[in-house]
Amino acid sequence: MPVSQLPTLSKEEFKLLQEFIQKETKIALGEEKMYLMRSRLGPILKKEGLSSYRELYEKLKKDRLGKLKSEVVEAITTNETFWFRDEHPFRILREEVIPDILQRYPNEKIRIWSAACSTGQEPYSIAISILEEARRNPKINPKNFEILATDISREALNIAQKGKYQWLALTRGMKPEILDRYFIKDSDGADAATIKPEVRSMVTFKQLNLQDSFTSLGKFHIIFCRNVTIYFSKEFKEELFKKLAGALKPHGVFFLGASETMIGTSASKLFKLVRSPKGGTYYRLIS
Ligand SMILES: C[S@@+](CC[C@H](N)C(=O)[O-])C[C@H]1O[C@@H](n2cnc3c(N)ncnc32)[C@H](O)[C@@H]1O
Repeated sequence: MPVSQLPTLSKEEFKLLQEFIQKETKIALGEEKMYLMRSRLGPILKKEGLSSYRELYEKLKKDRLGKLKSEVVEAITTNETFWFRDEHPFRILREEVIPDILQRYPNEKIRIWSAACSTGQEPYSIAISILEEARRNPKINPKNFEILATDISREALNIAQKGKYQWLALTRGMKPEILDRYFIKDSDGADAATIKPEVRSMVTFKQLNLQDSFTSLGKFHIIFCRNVTIYFSKEFKEELFKKLAGALKPHGVFFLGASETMIGTSASKLFKLVRSPKGGTYYRLIS
């Protein structure tokens, strides 16, 4: 629907909804995001038969079942993702991190967490990287790895869990030979393919808000938390980095997105920034 056909959004209404969204998701929307809020929440107004953004806010306050709240969260989160995003993290995982972690933890199942996994491309790229490494190196057994993938968005998780992607989403970042090896083309004539069970079975999906406690998840050897901290305030980033450090095993490894950094936050003293000789960076917990 064109934004011009949606009700206008006043600064006061923006502020009320901005605070509500920040409380629920920690996503910090600056005033430059007024257009984004108007366009993303406008269709909910129409669907609910509301005539203003203030009415939406009032209804959200009374939303005991949380259905409207979920709709707002779904509308405001950005689920943009693609296969092997930025490439370096997946090469570093195969060539540098997995050999090192296997040496340090020879008798443990290696636990990897994709925290903010969106529609599944990140955790499946991790699983495929492990399977590809296992083809080259017989000492690597994919059964010795488990991947937990979490996100706040139920809709994104539903897509991830099905592992079925339309052609456009499938080809973003995907090499043709990887597509052939790990996906089955749909036989119903639809322009889509589904991830093979050997990849799917390596990943467990779970809904999780990053502002909640991580203690029930246990400890991980490797965490990917990529392209989500860009949406958070500096205060929450600091808190999140410290919580993620607490969820890592000694010498555990942490990957951020290419445009994200921990430098300048008080959490950076918990980690060593490692620069890969072939490009890309990651963080290792100082234990
Ligand atoms: C841009 S995607 C990044 C996906 C993937 N990590 C990547 O790098 O391609 C950001 C994801 O963060 C999720 N997200 C936003 N706020 C969150 C929160 N408070 N808790 C958990 N996930 C959140 C969104 O639903 C979205 O799927």
